[in-house]
Amino acid sequence: MSVLAIDAGTTGVTAVVVDPDGSIAAKGYQEFAQHFPQPGWVEHTPEEIWQATLEATREVLARVDASALTGVGITNQRETIVLWDRETLGSPRRAIVWQDRRTAEICDRLKAAGHEERISELTGLRLDPYFSGTKLTWLRENEPHTWALVESGRYAIGTVDSYLVARMTRGLHHVTDVSNASRTLLFDLTTGDWSDELCALFGVPRDALPELVPNWGPIGTTDPRTFCGLSLPIAGVAGDQQSALFGQTCFDPGDSKCTYGTGSFLLTNTGTTIERSDAGLLTTAAWRSPAGETTYALEGAIFVTGAAVQWLRDGLQIVGTAAETAAIAGAVASSEGVVFVPALTGLGAPHWDPHARGTILGITRGTTRGHLVRATLEAIAFEVRDVLETVPQTLAGLKVDGGAAANDLLCQVQADQVGVPVERPRIVETTALGAAFLAGLGTGLWGSTDDLRETWQLDRRFEPGARDDRAYARWQQAVERSKGWALL
Ligand code: G3P
Repeated sequence: MSVLAIDAGTTGVTAVVVDPDGSIAAKGYQEFAQHFPQPGWVEHTPEEIWQATLEATREVLARVDASALTGVGITNQRETIVLWDRETLGSPRRAIVWQDRRTAEICDRLKAAGHEERISELTGLRLDPYFSGTKLTWLRENEPHTWALVESGRYAIGTVDSYLVARMTRGLHHVTDVSNASRTLLFDLTTGDWSDELCALFGVPRDALPELVPNWGPIGTTDPRTFCGLSLPIAGVAGDQQSALFGQTCFDPGDSKCTYGTGSFLLTNTGTTIERSDAGLLTTAAWRSPAGETTYALEGAIFVTGAAVQWLRDGLQIVGTAAETAAIAGAVASSEGVVFVPALTGLGAPHWDPHARGTILGITRGTTRGHLVRATLEAIAFEVRDVLETVPQTLAGLKVDGGAAANDLLCQVQADQVGVPVERPRIVETTALGAAFLAGLGTGLWGSTDDLRETWQLDRRFEPGARDDRAYARWQQAVERSKGWALL
């Protein structure tokens, strides 16, 4: 017996099969194209996300006994907005990705009209292009022909989880969960439902939004004609960061994790309490049980982490693979004063400046790619420190995961910077693991969260060493200089 989990991330789709002991029996991965139609815009083709899902699933199915699968869990890049035709399941346009900055002006307009406070009060979020709400307003204002079909009920709106469930079930289900809904700016955290007031403010018809379902339990059944011959209960769903919180077994208030993916996301479980931060953290729903109990979290969302490494690889072309950055950065003793602020899609927590842009300072004639690569890894650690300094409680340690957590140099610099031990679990694909845990709870593979806790195993603990506060001070200066750049 095992479960299949699909992690539809920002740069690619991972499929894993997880056994009852929490180990990964097989893994498949398929990257898909990133589209940048204008500076600051980021789009994905929904059909490519679906094809990557099928490809990653086929890869994993080639290595396991499919008849032993009891269910499937889905986790996804959040906030990204997809439209699809309810009958054909085709999408009339590309998805607008969470990193897309095109709605900065709409946010400024809504702020000027005095809406930000009420929006934050209802949603726990901020008025930033990151979230889905203003992306929908942009579609309504700029693509009226498409929007007319949203209003008529022909096109469905959803985040990537919703889209994948629709594709896997051949359009039978149009659903999402609270962890995804709470990132849209359309969800009222207190009532735990879509908000008519917010739908009216952003101009979104409530009927076009998905139905809310619990994070585990029966959601639908995959159709074997479209989903690799599999007829499996879809029994778990969650946005990727909440899924990673679940995968790290952060079930109790105060439990925290940091995932290094395309961006970095630090989440702290706050139990059934909706805690607010005035220091730049977001309040978000973590998950809702089938009995209807919602767990919440505080989140520090950093937009560019792995994406900065991807830019070194694909944009600058100074590294061949992400994995080689540890060796390249390790070959120099320090970044020699080079600071890279990877505000490539603006700045998220705790600065929240959609107009910030990437900045590299301190270059000399002696600067090499080693210094720049090291500065990139250091930036990732500094960004997390920026966020941790705003978290109300002192952490005893920081559980890390995600692709870049495999990088020892990064983990050590991170521990040095935050001044607490960094703990890396044996499995760093925690996002996918969380979706597997949800699906396994939903199908009875695991009986309780206590069973899941027993599966967590430490790989390595990085003790904090000397903290380079001068380097951090340089970083803080550089961040200030990156702010507002797109407005100049
Ligand atoms: O909020 C954006 C987040 O869900 C994206 O996650 O793993 O693709 O960096 P990831």
